[in-house]
Amino acid sequence: MDHSTTDVLVLGSGIAGLSAALGAAREGASVTVATKATQPEGASTWWAQGGIAVARTAPRRFKEDIHTASSGTSDPEALDVLVQNADAAVRDVLIDTLEVDFDTGGDGASFDYGREAAHSEDRILHVDASTGKHIHEPFLNCLAAHDRVAIRGNTAAIDLLERDGAVHGALLKSGDEVRRLHAGATVLATGGIGALYGRSTNPAGATGDGIAMAHRAGATTTDMEFVQFHPTVCVADGDPFLVSEAVRGEGAVLRNAAGDRFMPAVHEDAELAPRDVVARAVEQEHKRTGRVVLDVSSFDFAETFPDLTAMCAEHGVDPSAGIPVVPAEHFLCGGVDVDTHGRASLDRLYAVGECARTGVHGANRLASTSLLEGLVWGLRAGTDATGTTVPSQPVSISTTGAGSPPPDEALRAAFERLQQAMDEHVGLRRTPDGLQQARHDIRSIGADVDAWMDPSARRGVHELRSACTGARLIAEAAAANETSVGCHYMERPDAPSAS
Ligand code: SIN
Repeated sequence: MDHSTTDVLVLGSGIAGLSAALGAAREGASVTVATKATQPEGASTWWAQGGIAVARTAPRRFKEDIHTASSGTSDPEALDVLVQNADAAVRDVLIDTLEVDFDTGGDGASFDYGREAAHSEDRILHVDASTGKHIHEPFLNCLAAHDRVAIRGNTAAIDLLERDGAVHGALLKSGDEVRRLHAGATVLATGGIGALYGRSTNPAGATGDGIAMAHRAGATTTDMEFVQFHPTVCVADGDPFLVSEAVRGEGAVLRNAAGDRFMPAVHEDAELAPRDVVARAVEQEHKRTGRVVLDVSSFDFAETFPDLTAMCAEHGVDPSAGIPVVPAEHFLCGGVDVDTHGRASLDRLYAVGECARTGVHGANRLASTSLLEGLVWGLRAGTDATGTTVPSQPVSISTTGAGSPPPDEALRAAFERLQQAMDEHVGLRRTPDGLQQARHDIRSIGADVDAWMDPSARRGVHELRSACTGARLIAEAAAANETSVGCHYMERPDAPSAS
Protein backbone atom coordinates (compact mmCIF):
# COMPACT_ATOMS: atom_id res chain seq x y z
CA MET A 1 0.00 0.00 0.00
CA ASP A 2 1.25 3.48 -0.90
CA HIS A 3 1.38 5.31 2.38
CA SER A 4 1.62 8.82 0.97
CA THR A 5 -1.94 8.61 -0.32
CA THR A 6 -4.96 6.73 0.90
CA ASP A 7 -8.58 6.65 -0.19
CA VAL A 8 -9.85 7.30 3.32
CA LEU A 9 -7.83 8.71 6.19
CA VAL A 10 -9.27 8.09 9.66
CA LEU A 11 -7.80 10.11 12.51
CA GLY A 12 -8.34 8.28 15.80
CA SER A 13 -8.81 4.68 16.83
CA GLY A 14 -11.80 4.42 19.18
CA ILE A 15 -15.01 2.66 18.21
CA ALA A 16 -16.09 5.52 15.92
CA GLY A 17 -12.83 5.61 13.96
CA LEU A 18 -12.58 1.85 13.70
CA SER A 19 -16.21 1.63 12.53
CA ALA A 20 -15.48 4.26 9.88
CA ALA A 21 -12.42 2.27 8.78
CA LEU A 22 -14.47 -0.92 8.61
CA GLY A 23 -17.28 0.80 6.69
CA ALA A 24 -14.85 2.20 4.13
CA ALA A 25 -12.82 -1.00 3.78
CA ARG A 26 -16.01 -3.00 3.19
CA GLU A 27 -16.67 -0.70 0.22
CA GLY A 28 -13.25 -1.61 -1.19
CA ALA A 29 -11.40 1.58 -0.20
CA SER A 30 -7.85 1.69 1.06
CA VAL A 31 -7.91 3.06 4.59
CA THR A 32 -5.23 4.52 6.82
CA VAL A 33 -5.98 4.89 10.51
CA ALA A 34 -3.60 7.39 12.11
CA THR A 35 -3.77 7.45 15.87
CA LYS A 36 -1.80 9.03 18.69
CA ALA A 37 -2.41 5.89 20.74
CA THR A 38 0.43 3.46 21.28
CA GLN A 39 -1.75 0.99 23.10
CA PRO A 40 -5.50 0.28 23.24
CA GLU A 41 -5.79 2.28 26.49
CA GLY A 42 -5.06 5.43 24.46
CA ALA A 43 -8.65 5.49 23.17
CA SER A 44 -11.62 6.49 25.35
CA THR A 45 -13.51 3.45 24.07
CA TRP A 46 -11.18 1.15 26.00
CA TRP A 47 -12.26 2.84 29.25
CA ALA A 48 -16.01 2.63 28.67
CA GLN A 49 -17.64 0.74 31.48
CA GLY A 50 -21.46 0.64 31.45
CA GLY A 51 -22.13 -0.70 27.96
CA ILE A 52 -23.96 -0.08 24.72
CA ALA A 53 -27.68 0.57 24.65
CA VAL A 54 -29.93 -1.00 21.99
CA ALA A 55 -33.56 -0.44 21.05
CA ARG A 56 -34.76 -4.06 21.48
CA THR A 57 -38.52 -4.09 20.82
CA ALA A 58 -39.23 -0.54 21.97
CA PRO A 59 -37.46 1.96 19.69
CA ARG A 60 -39.93 4.69 20.51
CA ARG A 61 -39.21 4.44 24.23
CA PHE A 62 -35.48 4.50 23.54
CA LYS A 63 -35.90 7.70 21.54
CA GLU A 64 -38.03 9.23 24.27
CA ASP A 65 -35.42 8.45 26.91
CA ILE A 66 -32.62 10.03 24.86
CA HIS A 67 -34.77 13.07 24.15
CA THR A 68 -35.78 13.49 27.80
CA ALA A 69 -32.17 13.13 29.01
CA SER A 70 -31.22 15.88 26.54
CA SER A 71 -33.80 18.21 28.15
CA GLY A 72 -35.80 18.03 24.94
CA THR A 73 -32.96 19.34 22.77
CA SER A 74 -31.86 16.29 20.77
CA ASP A 75 -32.34 16.41 17.01
CA PRO A 76 -35.28 14.20 15.88
CA GLU A 77 -33.69 13.23 12.57
CA ALA A 78 -30.43 12.22 14.23
CA LEU A 79 -32.37 10.29 16.86
CA ASP A 80 -34.21 8.33 14.17
CA VAL A 81 -30.93 7.43 12.51
CA LEU A 82 -29.38 6.27 15.77
CA VAL A 83 -32.30 4.20 16.99
CA GLN A 84 -33.30 2.72 13.62
CA ASN A 85 -29.76 1.50 13.00
CA ALA A 86 -28.80 0.55 16.55
CA ASP A 87 -29.69 -3.12 16.79
CA ALA A 88 -28.60 -4.04 13.26
CA ALA A 89 -25.20 -2.33 13.69
CA VAL A 90 -24.59 -4.00 17.05
CA ARG A 91 -25.57 -7.39 15.63
CA ASP A 92 -23.52 -6.96 12.45
CA VAL A 93 -20.29 -5.55 13.87
CA LEU A 94 -20.11 -6.38 17.55
CA ILE A 95 -21.83 -9.75 17.69
CA ASP A 96 -21.34 -11.35 14.26
CA THR A 97 -18.03 -9.78 13.19
CA LEU A 98 -16.13 -9.21 16.45
CA GLU A 99 -17.92 -11.88 18.50
CA VAL A 100 -18.04 -9.71 21.62
CA ASP A 101 -19.07 -11.93 24.48
CA PHE A 102 -21.81 -9.78 26.03
CA ASP A 103 -23.01 -11.01 29.41
CA THR A 104 -25.98 -13.34 29.30
CA GLY A 105 -28.64 -13.91 31.94
CA GLY A 106 -29.13 -16.95 34.13
CA ASP A 107 -30.31 -19.10 31.19
CA GLY A 108 -27.03 -18.41 29.34
CA ALA A 109 -28.97 -17.84 26.12
CA SER A 110 -30.47 -14.35 26.23
CA PHE A 111 -28.52 -11.19 26.98
CA ASP A 112 -28.38 -9.73 30.47
CA TYR A 113 -29.62 -6.25 29.55
CA GLY A 114 -28.60 -3.66 32.17
CA ARG A 115 -30.13 -0.34 33.15
CA GLU A 116 -28.60 3.04 33.97
CA ALA A 117 -29.91 6.45 34.97
CA ALA A 118 -32.77 7.86 32.90
CA HIS A 119 -33.37 4.61 30.95
CA SER A 120 -36.98 3.49 31.28
CA GLU A 121 -36.14 -0.15 30.59
CA ASP A 122 -33.31 -2.68 30.68
CA ARG A 123 -31.55 -2.32 27.32
CA ILE A 124 -27.80 -2.06 27.88
CA LEU A 125 -25.54 -4.78 26.55
CA HIS A 126 -22.40 -5.07 28.64
CA VAL A 127 -19.45 -7.23 29.59
CA ASP A 128 -19.18 -6.90 33.36
CA ALA A 129 -18.46 -3.16 33.86
CA SER A 130 -15.60 -3.07 31.37
CA THR A 131 -17.51 -3.25 28.11
CA GLY A 132 -15.21 -0.87 26.24
CA LYS A 133 -12.10 -3.00 26.28
CA HIS A 134 -14.07 -6.10 25.32
CA ILE A 135 -15.17 -4.28 22.17
CA HIS A 136 -12.02 -2.31 21.48
CA GLU A 137 -9.41 -5.05 21.53
CA PRO A 138 -11.15 -7.42 19.07
CA PHE A 139 -11.96 -4.42 16.86
CA LEU A 140 -8.29 -3.40 16.69
CA ASN A 141 -7.26 -7.00 16.01
CA CYS A 142 -9.85 -7.34 13.27
CA LEU A 143 -8.67 -4.22 11.45
CA ALA A 144 -4.98 -4.95 12.00
CA ALA A 145 -5.57 -8.17 10.04
CA HIS A 146 -7.55 -6.43 7.28
CA ASP A 147 -5.65 -6.19 3.98
CA ARG A 148 -7.13 -2.80 3.03
CA VAL A 149 -6.47 -1.13 6.38
CA ALA A 150 -3.17 0.23 7.68
CA ILE A 151 -3.01 1.35 11.30
CA ARG A 152 -0.29 3.87 12.14
CA GLY A 153 0.11 4.22 15.88
CA ASN A 154 2.00 6.95 17.72
CA THR A 155 1.04 9.31 14.89
CA ALA A 156 -0.60 12.64 15.64
CA ALA A 157 -2.49 14.73 13.11
CA ILE A 158 -1.48 18.35 13.51
CA ASP A 159 -3.38 20.07 10.68
CA LEU A 160 -5.83 19.30 7.93
CA LEU A 161 -4.86 19.76 4.28
CA GLU A 162 -7.59 22.17 3.26
CA ARG A 163 -7.93 23.79 -0.15
CA ASP A 164 -10.91 25.76 -1.49
CA GLY A 165 -13.31 24.49 1.14
CA ALA A 166 -12.37 20.82 0.81
CA VAL A 167 -10.13 18.64 2.98
CA HIS A 168 -7.59 16.39 1.25
CA GLY A 169 -5.83 14.63 4.12
CA ALA A 170 -3.72 15.75 7.03
CA LEU A 171 -0.28 16.72 8.20
CA LEU A 172 0.90 13.86 10.38
CA LYS A 173 3.63 13.80 12.97
CA SER A 174 5.35 10.57 14.05
CA GLY A 175 8.27 11.19 16.35
CA ASP A 176 10.24 14.02 14.74
CA GLU A 177 8.95 13.35 11.24
CA VAL A 178 6.17 15.57 9.86
CA ARG A 179 4.62 14.68 6.51
CA ARG A 180 1.50 15.07 4.47
CA LEU A 181 -0.83 12.18 3.84
CA HIS A 182 -3.26 12.94 1.01
CA ALA A 183 -6.67 11.33 1.09
CA GLY A 184 -9.89 11.24 -0.91
CA ALA A 185 -11.77 11.83 2.35
CA THR A 186 -10.75 12.46 5.93
CA VAL A 187 -12.66 11.23 8.96
CA LEU A 188 -12.03 12.88 12.33
CA ALA A 189 -12.51 10.44 15.20
CA THR A 190 -10.19 12.01 17.72
CA GLY A 191 -12.43 11.77 20.80
CA GLY A 192 -13.07 14.29 23.52
CA ILE A 193 -11.54 17.13 25.47
CA GLY A 194 -10.98 15.60 28.92
CA ALA A 195 -7.41 16.92 29.18
CA LEU A 196 -8.78 20.47 29.34
CA TYR A 197 -9.93 19.75 32.89
CA GLY A 198 -7.98 18.78 35.98
CA ARG A 199 -10.03 15.64 36.49
CA SER A 200 -11.50 13.56 33.66
CA THR A 201 -12.48 9.99 32.83
CA ASN A 202 -10.79 10.36 29.40
CA PRO A 203 -7.29 9.16 28.59
CA ALA A 204 -4.57 11.83 28.84
CA GLY A 205 -4.39 12.36 25.06
CA ALA A 206 -7.96 13.71 24.87
CA THR A 207 -6.89 17.21 23.88
CA GLY A 208 -9.62 17.89 21.31
CA ASP A 209 -7.24 17.74 18.33
CA GLY A 210 -9.89 16.96 15.71
CA ILE A 211 -12.18 19.76 16.81
CA ALA A 212 -9.31 22.26 16.83
CA MET A 213 -8.01 21.19 13.40
CA ALA A 214 -11.51 21.34 11.92
CA HIS A 215 -12.05 24.79 13.40
CA ARG A 216 -8.76 26.06 12.00
CA ALA A 217 -9.67 24.69 8.59
CA GLY A 218 -12.99 26.56 8.68
CA ALA A 219 -15.47 23.83 9.68
CA THR A 220 -18.44 24.67 11.90
CA THR A 221 -18.63 23.50 15.52
CA THR A 222 -21.86 23.46 17.52
CA ASP A 223 -23.07 22.90 21.11
CA MET A 224 -19.57 23.25 22.54
CA GLU A 225 -20.88 24.48 25.88
CA PHE A 226 -22.41 21.08 26.65
CA VAL A 227 -19.65 19.34 28.59
CA GLN A 228 -20.93 16.41 30.60
CA PHE A 229 -19.50 15.63 34.03
CA HIS A 230 -19.84 12.13 35.45
CA PRO A 231 -21.03 12.21 39.07
CA THR A 232 -19.13 9.22 40.41
CA VAL A 233 -15.40 9.10 39.86
CA CYS A 234 -13.39 7.51 42.65
CA VAL A 235 -10.49 9.57 43.92
CA ALA A 236 -8.30 7.38 46.04
CA ASP A 237 -4.65 6.40 45.65
CA GLY A 238 -3.38 6.83 42.12
CA ASP A 239 -5.36 8.01 39.09
CA PRO A 240 -9.07 8.67 39.52
CA PHE A 241 -11.28 5.95 38.05
CA LEU A 242 -14.88 5.86 36.90
CA VAL A 243 -17.47 4.04 38.98
CA SER A 244 -20.10 3.19 36.41
CA GLU A 245 -23.62 4.49 36.60
CA ALA A 246 -24.59 0.83 36.36
CA VAL A 247 -23.63 0.64 40.05
CA ARG A 248 -26.36 3.13 40.91
CA GLY A 249 -28.62 1.29 38.46
CA GLU A 250 -28.07 -1.78 40.64
CA GLY A 251 -29.17 0.09 43.79
CA ALA A 252 -26.12 1.92 45.20
CA VAL A 253 -26.95 5.21 46.95
CA LEU A 254 -24.96 8.38 47.61
CA ARG A 255 -24.23 9.50 51.16
CA ASN A 256 -22.49 12.59 52.50
CA ALA A 257 -19.90 12.71 55.30
CA ALA A 258 -22.67 12.51 57.92
CA GLY A 259 -23.89 9.27 56.30
CA ASP A 260 -27.07 10.93 55.01
CA ARG A 261 -28.61 10.27 51.60
CA PHE A 262 -29.12 13.58 49.84
CA MET A 263 -30.39 12.76 46.33
CA PRO A 264 -34.05 12.03 47.26
CA ALA A 265 -34.41 15.67 48.35
CA VAL A 266 -32.85 16.90 45.10
CA HIS A 267 -34.77 14.95 42.42
CA GLU A 268 -37.65 12.49 42.28
CA ASP A 269 -35.40 9.92 40.59
CA ALA A 270 -32.82 10.34 43.37
CA GLU A 271 -29.50 8.66 42.41
CA LEU A 272 -30.89 7.90 38.94
CA ALA A 273 -31.66 11.53 38.11
CA PRO A 274 -30.00 13.01 34.99
CA ARG A 275 -26.22 13.09 35.24
CA ASP A 276 -25.85 16.85 35.47
CA VAL A 277 -28.28 16.98 38.40
CA VAL A 278 -26.47 14.22 40.30
CA ALA A 279 -23.05 15.68 39.50
CA ARG A 280 -23.95 19.13 40.83
CA ALA A 281 -25.46 17.62 43.99
CA VAL A 282 -22.37 15.47 44.59
CA GLU A 283 -20.13 18.49 44.12
CA GLN A 284 -22.21 20.56 46.53
CA GLU A 285 -22.39 17.89 49.26
CA HIS A 286 -18.69 17.25 48.89
CA LYS A 287 -17.99 20.95 49.42
CA ARG A 288 -20.49 21.23 52.26
CA THR A 289 -19.60 18.10 54.23
CA GLY A 290 -16.14 17.12 52.97
CA ARG A 291 -16.93 13.68 51.57
CA VAL A 292 -19.40 11.76 49.40
CA VAL A 293 -19.45 7.98 49.10
CA LEU A 294 -21.32 5.43 47.05
CA ASP A 295 -22.92 3.01 49.47
CA VAL A 296 -23.02 -0.38 47.73
CA SER A 297 -24.21 -2.38 50.74
CA SER A 298 -27.65 -3.18 49.28
CA PHE A 299 -26.29 -5.83 46.89
CA ASP A 300 -23.31 -8.13 46.43
CA PHE A 301 -20.87 -5.65 44.83
CA ALA A 302 -18.04 -8.15 44.33
CA GLU A 303 -20.28 -10.62 42.56
CA THR A 304 -22.07 -8.04 40.41
CA PHE A 305 -19.02 -5.92 39.50
CA PRO A 306 -15.86 -8.04 39.72
CA ASP A 307 -13.87 -5.62 37.50
CA LEU A 308 -14.72 -2.62 39.68
CA THR A 309 -14.00 -4.66 42.79
CA ALA A 310 -10.53 -5.35 41.43
CA MET A 311 -10.06 -1.68 40.56
CA CYS A 312 -11.05 -0.67 44.11
CA ALA A 313 -8.53 -3.15 45.51
CA GLU A 314 -5.80 -1.73 43.25
CA HIS A 315 -6.53 1.75 44.61
CA GLY A 316 -6.78 0.70 48.26
CA VAL A 317 -10.56 1.26 48.45
CA ASP A 318 -12.75 -1.02 50.55
CA PRO A 319 -16.20 -0.90 48.87
CA SER A 320 -17.92 -2.10 52.04
CA ALA A 321 -16.89 1.19 53.69
CA GLY A 322 -18.36 3.23 50.80
CA ILE A 323 -16.55 4.25 47.61
CA PRO A 324 -15.41 7.92 47.82
CA VAL A 325 -16.56 9.81 44.73
CA VAL A 326 -16.47 13.25 43.10
CA PRO A 327 -17.63 14.48 39.67
CA ALA A 328 -15.19 14.59 36.74
CA GLU A 329 -15.34 15.71 33.12
CA HIS A 330 -16.66 12.81 31.06
CA PHE A 331 -18.06 13.64 27.62
CA LEU A 332 -18.43 16.54 25.20
CA CYS A 333 -21.93 16.55 23.68
CA GLY A 334 -21.02 19.18 21.08
CA GLY A 335 -18.24 19.18 18.52
CA VAL A 336 -17.75 19.36 14.76
CA ASP A 337 -21.18 19.86 13.27
CA VAL A 338 -22.14 16.90 11.06
CA ASP A 339 -25.16 15.53 9.21
CA THR A 340 -26.65 12.05 9.45
CA HIS A 341 -23.73 10.60 7.46
CA GLY A 342 -21.06 12.35 9.51
CA ARG A 343 -20.39 14.95 6.80
CA ALA A 344 -18.93 18.17 8.20
CA SER A 345 -19.39 21.62 6.68
CA LEU A 346 -16.20 21.26 4.59
CA ASP A 347 -16.22 19.01 1.55
CA ARG A 348 -14.61 15.56 2.06
CA LEU A 349 -14.38 16.08 5.81
CA TYR A 350 -16.26 13.81 8.21
CA ALA A 351 -16.40 13.66 11.99
CA VAL A 352 -17.64 10.78 14.13
CA GLY A 353 -17.73 9.83 17.79
CA GLU A 354 -17.12 12.29 20.59
CA CYS A 355 -15.46 14.95 18.42
CA ALA A 356 -18.64 15.17 16.34
CA ARG A 357 -21.91 16.89 17.09
CA THR A 358 -24.56 14.75 15.44
CA GLY A 359 -27.46 16.24 17.39
CA VAL A 360 -28.28 12.95 19.12
CA HIS A 361 -27.32 14.20 22.58
CA GLY A 362 -28.39 17.82 22.39
CA ALA A 363 -27.58 19.47 25.71
CA ASN A 364 -27.02 16.24 27.65
CA ARG A 365 -26.27 12.61 26.86
CA LEU A 366 -28.12 9.52 28.03
CA ALA A 367 -25.83 6.89 29.54
CA SER A 368 -24.45 4.15 27.28
CA THR A 369 -25.29 5.89 24.01
CA SER A 370 -21.79 7.08 23.12
CA LEU A 371 -20.41 3.74 21.92
CA LEU A 372 -23.61 3.30 19.93
CA GLU A 373 -23.38 6.72 18.31
CA GLY A 374 -19.73 6.05 17.42
CA LEU A 375 -20.61 2.70 15.88
CA VAL A 376 -23.62 3.88 13.87
CA TRP A 377 -22.09 7.15 12.61
CA GLY A 378 -18.71 5.52 12.08
CA LEU A 379 -20.17 2.93 9.71
CA ARG A 380 -22.27 5.49 7.88
CA ALA A 381 -19.42 7.97 7.49
CA GLY A 382 -16.94 5.30 6.40
CA THR A 383 -19.32 4.00 3.75
CA ASP A 384 -20.14 7.51 2.52
CA ALA A 385 -16.50 8.62 2.45
CA THR A 386 -15.49 6.21 -0.30
CA GLY A 387 -15.46 7.00 -3.99
CA THR A 388 -13.75 10.38 -3.89
CA THR A 389 -10.43 10.72 -5.64
CA VAL A 390 -7.16 11.62 -3.99
CA PRO A 391 -5.96 15.05 -5.27
CA SER A 392 -3.43 14.79 -8.08
CA GLN A 393 -1.63 17.98 -6.98
CA PRO A 394 -0.10 18.10 -3.50
CA VAL A 395 -1.96 20.40 -1.13
CA SER A 396 0.21 22.87 0.65
CA ILE A 397 -0.92 24.58 3.81
CA SER A 398 0.44 27.61 5.51
CA THR A 399 1.81 26.48 8.83
CA THR A 400 2.11 29.04 11.54
CA GLY A 401 5.19 30.15 13.33
CA ALA A 402 8.83 29.41 13.61
CA GLY A 403 8.63 29.53 17.35
CA SER A 404 11.17 28.49 19.89
CA PRO A 405 10.45 25.35 21.89
CA PRO A 406 9.38 25.84 25.51
CA PRO A 407 11.09 24.05 28.37
CA ASP A 408 9.05 21.06 29.63
CA GLU A 409 8.27 22.90 32.81
CA ALA A 410 6.76 25.88 30.99
CA LEU A 411 4.63 23.59 28.85
CA ARG A 412 3.36 21.71 31.90
CA ALA A 413 2.65 24.94 33.76
CA ALA A 414 0.71 26.35 30.81
CA PHE A 415 -1.41 23.19 30.64
CA GLU A 416 -2.11 23.43 34.36
CA ARG A 417 -3.15 27.06 34.02
CA LEU A 418 -5.57 26.08 31.29
CA GLN A 419 -7.04 23.28 33.42
CA GLN A 420 -7.38 25.63 36.35
CA ALA A 421 -9.27 28.19 34.26
CA MET A 422 -11.61 25.48 32.95
CA ASP A 423 -12.15 23.87 36.38
CA GLU A 424 -12.86 27.16 38.09
CA HIS A 425 -14.98 28.87 35.50
CA VAL A 426 -16.17 26.45 32.80
CA GLY A 427 -17.14 23.44 34.90
CA LEU A 428 -20.40 22.27 36.43
CA ARG A 429 -21.47 25.79 37.39
CA ARG A 430 -20.72 28.88 35.31
CA THR A 431 -21.22 32.61 35.73
CA PRO A 432 -20.88 35.41 33.19
CA ASP A 433 -17.96 36.92 35.13
CA GLY A 434 -16.25 33.56 35.48
CA LEU A 435 -16.60 32.87 31.77
CA GLN A 436 -15.13 36.24 30.95
CA GLN A 437 -12.18 35.52 33.24
CA ALA A 438 -11.71 32.09 31.62
CA ARG A 439 -11.71 33.59 28.13
CA HIS A 440 -9.09 36.08 29.21
CA ASP A 441 -6.90 33.33 30.73
CA ILE A 442 -7.31 31.07 27.70
CA ARG A 443 -6.33 33.90 25.34
CA SER A 444 -3.22 34.59 27.35
CA ILE A 445 -2.16 30.91 27.38
CA GLY A 446 -2.95 30.71 23.66
CA ALA A 447 -0.60 33.64 23.01
CA ASP A 448 2.24 31.76 24.77
CA VAL A 449 1.53 28.69 22.66
CA ASP A 450 1.51 30.72 19.43
CA ALA A 451 4.99 31.91 20.29
CA TRP A 452 6.10 28.28 20.67
CA MET A 453 4.40 26.99 17.51
CA ASP A 454 6.18 25.41 14.62
CA PRO A 455 5.13 22.21 12.79
CA SER A 456 8.22 20.47 14.11
CA ALA A 457 7.40 21.45 17.71
CA ARG A 458 7.04 18.45 19.97
CA ARG A 459 3.65 16.87 20.28
CA GLY A 460 2.83 18.46 23.64
CA VAL A 461 2.93 21.93 22.07
CA HIS A 462 0.49 20.91 19.34
CA GLU A 463 -1.75 19.30 21.97
CA LEU A 464 -1.76 22.42 24.10
CA ARG A 465 -2.60 24.46 21.02
CA SER A 466 -5.59 22.16 20.35
CA ALA A 467 -6.60 22.31 24.00
CA CYS A 468 -6.55 26.14 23.94
CA THR A 469 -8.73 26.18 20.83
CA GLY A 470 -11.21 23.73 22.37
CA ALA A 471 -11.26 25.64 25.64
CA ARG A 472 -11.90 28.90 23.81
CA LEU A 473 -14.75 27.37 21.78
CA ILE A 474 -16.33 25.96 24.96
CA ALA A 475 -16.00 29.17 26.95
CA GLU A 476 -17.31 31.29 24.06
CA ALA A 477 -20.29 29.00 23.46
CA ALA A 478 -21.03 28.99 27.20
CA ALA A 479 -20.86 32.78 27.38
CA ALA A 480 -23.18 33.08 24.39
CA ASN A 481 -25.84 30.80 25.89
CA GLU A 482 -27.63 32.52 28.74
CA THR A 483 -30.06 29.66 29.29
CA SER A 484 -29.27 26.90 31.76
CA VAL A 485 -30.06 23.67 29.96
CA GLY A 486 -28.70 20.12 30.24
CA CYS A 487 -25.06 20.19 31.24
CA HIS A 488 -24.71 23.95 30.72
CA TYR A 489 -25.61 25.51 34.05
CA MET A 490 -25.45 29.27 34.51
CA GLU A 491 -25.43 30.21 38.14
CA ARG A 492 -27.08 33.56 38.63
CA PRO A 493 -30.35 34.56 40.20
CA ASP A 494 -31.98 35.94 37.05
CA ALA A 495 -30.86 33.19 34.63
CA PRO A 496 -33.71 32.03 32.39
CA SER A 497 -34.12 28.25 32.63
CA ALA A 498 -35.30 25.88 29.90
CA SER A 499 -36.55 23.24 32.35
C1 SIN B 1 -20.88 4.70 32.99
O1 SIN B 1 -20.62 3.51 32.94
O2 SIN B 1 -21.37 5.25 33.97
C2 SIN B 1 -20.58 5.55 31.81
C3 SIN B 1 -21.48 5.20 30.72
C4 SIN B 1 -21.60 6.33 29.76
O3 SIN B 1 -21.02 7.38 29.96
O4 SIN B 1 -22.35 6.20 28.79
